[in-house]
Amino acid sequence: MIINQSEFSVSAVKASQYPEGGLDEIALAGRSNVGKSSFINTLLQRKNLARTSSSPGKTQTLNFYRVDSDQADFYLVDVPGYGYAKVSKKQREEFGEMIQDYLETRAYLKGLILLIDGRHEPTADDIAMYDYAQYLNLPILLVATKMDKIKKNAFNKTEAAFRKHLNLNKDNVTFLPFSSVTKLNVDQVKDWIQARLDE
Ligand code: GTP
Ligand code: MG
Repeated sequence: MIINQSEFSVSAVKASQYPEGGLDEIALAGRSNVGKSSFINTLLQRKNLARTSSSPGKTQTLNFYRVDSDQADFYLVDVPGYGYAKVSKKQREEFGEMIQDYLETRAYLKGLILLIDGRHEPTADDIAMYDYAQYLNLPILLVATKMDKIKKNAFNKTEAAFRKHLNLNKDNVTFLPFSSVTKLNVDQVKDWIQARLDE
């Protein structure tokens, strides 16, 4: 897949604000600060389309990015980071509802890219999100982020740490180490998206 153009389309907190137009969508989820915005910028070859930040919890709405590729046009949907301790309980519940509404009702949704920090074992929040995605029966691309911080010979340790907590031997799951710094496996991510759009 070759990405020709991309643009921020719309922010939404409820269904009436989702874009119309009938394009397929690929959602991105992960803990705050895991590197979702960086992942989007890397994938779309844009410097600062999705705003990155060193203070977690920057992204607080569903952000739809329209992507024009040589194959098909689609939306990438940045879902706010879960497990952000500094928001209030009420805010967290509202986040939860917004995310559930989207993931459970959106017919255009063709797959979920779940980002987990490759430097650490998956957290309880990561495991809960993975189990939830399995319950939703979505194709899942499990991405280990920030792998430039891990020595090549320790990559299998990251995968083992993931396997310890998450069942990766499922037909609907693909695992990929990734780095926005070195652009590791960007093409494999594009291939996975293409396959979801072709399904
Ligand atoms: P929120 O929107 O706040 O939930 O965060 P996010 O998941 O969008 O994370 P973001 O892309 O803003 O990145 C968070 C921090 O991690 C920033 O300081 C990034 O520079 C850094 N980061 C993201 N991806 C990578 C990566 O692949 N390698 C390294 N070394 N740092 C990364
Ligand atoms: Mg973000």
